[in-house]
Amino acid sequence: MANVIDGKSVAAALRLRVAAAAAGFSARVGRPPGLDVVLVGDDPASQVYVRNKGRACEEAGMRSTIHRLPVDVTQEALLSLLDGLMVDERVDGVLVQLPLPKHLDEQAVTDRVVPEKDVDGFHPSNVGALWLGREGLVPCTPWGCMRLLDEAGVKLEGARAVVIGRSNIVGKPMAALLLRRSATVVVAHSRTKDLPALCASADVLVAAVGRAKMLGADWVKPGAAVIDVGINRTAEGKLVGDVDYDAVVGHAGAITPVPGGVGPMTIACLLENTVRAAWRRAGLPKGELTI
Ligand code: GUN
Repeated sequence: MANVIDGKSVAAALRLRVAAAAAGFSARVGRPPGLDVVLVGDDPASQVYVRNKGRACEEAGMRSTIHRLPVDVTQEALLSLLDGLMVDERVDGVLVQLPLPKHLDEQAVTDRVVPEKDVDGFHPSNVGALWLGREGLVPCTPWGCMRLLDEAGVKLEGARAVVIGRSNIVGKPMAALLLRRSATVVVAHSRTKDLPALCASADVLVAAVGRAKMLGADWVKPGAAVIDVGINRTAEGKLVGDVDYDAVVGHAGAITPVPGGVGPMTIACLLENTVRAAWRRAGLPKGELTI
């Protein structure tokens, strides 16, 4: 039976450490770390995510402001809001909730968030820093996955890791993070041949596909660590991952459940990134930030 990695409790512990660091920041700088979230339109899932992000910030003693823009907002108006946030001293982190409505240029929008405030880690400068092994802000979801692997005591050095999915938000940064830890990394995607056999060769398997219960028992090597990034809703309205949990839990070495695995870590890592951004912007000594 696999070690079931409890993302909820790992995230709660991380949020406590973030709250302590946020309190330390506030005491030294005279204001709390601040996150500004921009939400365009009224997509129900995005509304929930954004509300949860705001609430988590407040619980950690941070300031958070949500900017709600109409679905037909112009590109100019959105960029002009971002430009204002970039020069606002009290704003440490800025996040534009994706996806954006079709008429907006997602790339131009994410590029407008300066690297120092880019708590999503989407700016080309932060992406480059990640691949070069330099300091920068790392995308929250893969960063949360790494924390869960470490928490479960999974050995990464020399391990064979397979990441399914090549998105800029999860698959690519996940591959960079695993490589940085000396895993041997394969990035699989929709055109990959013999995907089940490839996955069955992995010591560490990260699924970020977006297809309910796609990975069955024969996709998972006995004893492997399985990280399930998928959040899919079934016809009955139930939340399930990309992994067929019931089929896999019996012989994986470690596995994240859905819900309660990767999901709670993403928000905790967003808070962590915001405090890191605030700390760096204020010029506080790096060694004194203990998260
Ligand atoms: N939409 C889905 N995931 C993310 C994320 O990590 N950041 C942002 N900004 N939008 C998202």
